[in-house]
Amino acid sequence: MASITVITRDGTSHSLPATPGMSVMEIIKDAGISELLALCGGCCSCATCHVHVAEGDMARAGPANADEADLLDSSDHNQPNSRLSCQIAFTAALDGLTVTIAPED
Ligand code: FES
Repeated sequence: MASITVITRDGTSHSLPATPGMSVMEIIKDAGISELLALCGGCCSCATCHVHVAEGDMARAGPANADEADLLDSSDHNQPNSRLSCQIAFTAALDGLTVTIAPED
């Protein structure tokens, strides 16, 4: 089973089972991690699913799309490695991906 690693705001690392076809946001929510609010349900309109991708995973996670980048611009915690986790479609190529949940805006 593929997995991702999610670091929550208290610094705890969680290894989560990951199924291709799900978004990274869905994987985190399904694991019961509630601090990722994902209020819009994945419509790319709320930015409450903001994560920071581990430096070594940036190339395979890819850059934010245009709509996503616009939303991230409104965050105080926008960084070059910022992504909205609902916009990262998990595939086998992302096995072992590590993301940190961004501070709340
Ligand atoms: S869940 Fe709202 S933008 Fe990702």
